[in-house]
Amino acid sequence: MASFDVLVIGELNVDIILNDIQGFPEIGKEIRADQLNLTLGSSSAIFASNLSSLGVSVGMVGLLGNDSFADTIKKSLLDKKVNIDFVMSSDRYSTGLTIVMNYGMDRANVTFPGAMERLMVEDITDQMLLSCKHMHLSSIFLQKGIKKQAVQLFERAKKLGITTSMDPQWDPSENWKLDLSSLLPHLDVWMPNEVEFKNITSVPELAEGLEKIKEYANYVVIKDGIHGAHLWNQGNLTSKPAFLNSEVADCIGAGDSFDAGFISEFIKGSELNRCLEVGNVMGAINTLEPGGTTSFKNREYIEKIAIEKFGFTL
Ligand SMILES: Nc1ncnc2c1ncn2[C@@H]1O[C@H](COP(=O)(O)OP(=O)(O)OP(=O)(O)O)[C@@H](O)[C@H]1O
Ligand SMILES: [Mg+2]
Repeated sequence: MASFDVLVIGELNVDIILNDIQGFPEIGKEIRADQLNLTLGSSSAIFASNLSSLGVSVGMVGLLGNDSFADTIKKSLLDKKVNIDFVMSSDRYSTGLTIVMNYGMDRANVTFPGAMERLMVEDITDQMLLSCKHMHLSSIFLQKGIKKQAVQLFERAKKLGITTSMDPQWDPSENWKLDLSSLLPHLDVWMPNEVEFKNITSVPELAEGLEKIKEYANYVVIKDGIHGAHLWNQGNLTSKPAFLNSEVADCIGAGDSFDAGFISEFIKGSELNRCLEVGNVMGAINTLEPGGTTSFKNREYIEKIAIEKFGFTL
C-alpha cells in the first residue's frame, strides 16, 4: 500500500496567468496583456508540489476532467514527484481553471471550478487516509462537495490517528460560512491569511477573533503578507517577520508555499517558532520567481536560495 508523509486533499486546476496588462478589463472593450504563463494552479496543488520539492513524500487526492488541462496538471505533479494514484478523473466535468490577471503585488482572479467541486467526502476512503501521517486540505470554499461534510472528514482523520491542517483560502461568494466550533477541534493547524481569518470569525480585529475561537481551536497560523505570520497557541500569540526582498516577481502562491514550509517542519515535530520561520522563508522564496512553483525546483536548490538570498539555513 502507498505510504506518504502528507496526503493533500483538494482542488486541482491550471492557472492562466496574464502579466503586463495594459489597464483593467472593461465590458465592451479589449485590452492587451504582454505576458502569458500556463502553469499548475490551485492552492492544494501548489502546496503539494512545493512540499514534495522540499523532500517530503506527498500524495494527492483530487478530481479532474478528461482533457488537456488535466494532462498538464498530472504532468506537473509527477514532475515534482507528487504521487497521483488517488487523483480521479471524470468524463462528466471539465478540469477547473483560474484566469489570473496580475498587477504587481496583487491580482484579480476568475475561477471556473469544474470538476473540483464534484469531489465528495465519500470518495475519500479510509485506505487513502491510512496511507498518510498528516492530511492537509485547502480551498474549502471552492470545494462545495467536500465542504458539506468537512467536519466528518477531519473527525475521521483524527480517529485514524492522523494529524491535520487546513488553509481555507478565499471564499468567492464572500459568505464566509464555516462551522468553526465543529471543525477546529479536529484540526491541528488552521492556516488562513489575516483577511480570511477576520472574515470567517466575523470580527474586525485579530485578537477579538482569537478570543472567539479559543475554546475549540488548536494551533492557528495567520499569514500576513509583508508583515510575516502569527501563530496562536492556547492564548499565546507569536509573530515572526517576513523575509523582505527587492526582487519580488509576484506573490502568487506565497501562502501555499508558506504552508508547505510550515508543515514540512510541523510533521517532523520541530519547534513552532522554527515552523513559522521556515513558512516565512518559503513564502519569500516563492515571490522571487513568477507563479507558485517556479522557485521550488528541488531541496538542494531551495536550500541554496534560502542561504544566498535570506541567510537562512534550512
Ligand atoms: N512581498 C513579500 N516579501 C516577502 N515575503 C512575503 C511577501 N508576500 C508574502 N510573503 C510571505 O509569504 C507568506 C504568505 O503570504 P500571504 O500572507 O500573502 O498569504 P496568502 O494571502 O494566503 O497568499 P495566497 O494568495 O498565496 O493564498 C507571508 O506570511 C510571508 O511570510
Ligand atoms: Mg492563501
